[in-house]
Amino acid sequence: MSTTYHEPFDSLSEDARNIHRALASVIEELEAVDWYHQRAECTQDPELKEIVLHNRDEELEHAAMGLEWLRRRIPSLDEHLRTYLFTSENILAVEESAGDGESGGSNTSAPGSDLGIGSGKGGN
Ligand SMILES: [Fe+2]
Repeated sequence: MSTTYHEPFDSLSEDARNIHRALASVIEELEAVDWYHQRAECTQDPELKEIVLHNRDEELEHAAMGLEWLRRRIPSLDEHLRTYLFTSENILAVEESAGDGESGGSNTSAPGSDLGIGSGKGGN
C-alpha cells in the first residue's frame, strides 16, 4: 500500500484510491526521467549515455500512459491538457486566451461539492 496517503485509507473510495495509484505512478515515472536525464548529461561514456537516454524515453512513455489514464477520469485535467498541450503560442498567452487566469479553471463547482474526479465518465 502506498505510504503517501494524506487521508485515512478507509475513508477513500476505490476511485480515489485508483487516482492516487495513478498519480503516484506518474510522479515516480517523472522522477525516474529526471534521474536518467541527469545521468545522461554527466556520463562521459557515449554507449552508457545512449542506454540511459533510451531508459529515460521509456519512462516518459510510462508517464504518458499514466497521464492519459488520469485524463480520462478527471474532467478538469482533460480540460487543461486540451488547452495547453500541442500549442505553439506563448504558454501564458494561451492561459489568457482561455480566459482562465488564476481562477482555477472553469470549474464552477461550489465549494465542497463533488470534484468530478473518478466519476467513471470519460474513456474517450
Ligand atoms: Fe517506468
